[in-house]
Amino acid sequence: MSTALQRLQDLEPSTQEFRDAVLAGLSGIPKTLPCKFFYDAEGSRLFDQICELPEYYPTRTELKLLADKSAEIAGLIGRRARLVEFGSGAGVKIRLLLNALDRPAAYVPVDISRDHLMMAAADLARDFPALQIAPICADYTKPFALPAPASLHPEITVGFFPGSTIGNFTPAEARGFLARARRLLGPGSAMVVGVDLRKDAAILVPAYDDAAGVTAAFNLNLLVRINRELDGTFDLEQFTHEARWNDAEGRIEMHLVSRRDQEVRVGSARFAFRAGETIHTENSHKYTLDQFRALAVEAGYRPRAAWTDAAGLFSVHMLDA
Ligand code: TRP
Repeated sequence: MSTALQRLQDLEPSTQEFRDAVLAGLSGIPKTLPCKFFYDAEGSRLFDQICELPEYYPTRTELKLLADKSAEIAGLIGRRARLVEFGSGAGVKIRLLLNALDRPAAYVPVDISRDHLMMAAADLARDFPALQIAPICADYTKPFALPAPASLHPEITVGFFPGSTIGNFTPAEARGFLARARRLLGPGSAMVVGVDLRKDAAILVPAYDDAAGVTAAFNLNLLVRINRELDGTFDLEQFTHEARWNDAEGRIEMHLVSRRDQEVRVGSARFAFRAGETIHTENSHKYTLDQFRALAVEAGYRPRAAWTDAAGLFSVHMLDA
């Protein structure tokens, strides 16, 4: 293995944090669960499958957009950049930037899914032997520090937040995240953010409720995880996946719907469900170009450039911090 792969900085959320979040979420009205806990090993595997579904246009559209615009993006970034990716996943998209950049200095992938992160980092270390790779396993909505740049001194630090994961925050949370990222990355840095665009519900809903049932399995896997890690008693036959378009909020909502009146235990805590009651597990907000630019400005950035595909499905923004 390449020596440029540095030791993992491990801030993986503990089971106690998972338990606290689940108990708080299921005690709320309406019931909710935080989406970051989707990504255990099985959840990360299912998510990679979602990215290849015919109905799920965001991944392939963003990949094509990044491939088409990589030279332009790389030109704006300049030489010897340090890239910090929030939610690096399988590490596919970053390769398009790394291949286009002039002597990239370092890559800091941050992901909540530790084994997935280490595998992707090792693959990348093989393919980019000159790159310093410093993986961090963390919930990037919580504070963490960047490693001190090792021997290669980067000329610019660039945050990379693809996949429209920014849309999984509420607009207020997205502003907070971007403002914190700005402080983490430091003065003179930039952010490259993938943002899904507002469009017809007839395209959006199937993207989050595919015919093969992969998204349903992904959503339900959160209950499997609670059963396994928190001694839960969810009966998977008694909950169904639902994707809803909320027009007023401009977002797709993911829910798990109780099929009947039932009681579920998580450890020693008991939760009653009425038939039709839901656990709201995720939001995916959709923005117009101007809506997202305005949000970035409110978070303290100067929009530098934005690119969209020919069909206007997806956008990639470059923001100066
Ligand atoms: N960032 C992705 C999105 O909002 C996450 C995602 C895609 C997702 N499909 C999902 C999350 C299904 C939960 C369930 O598009």
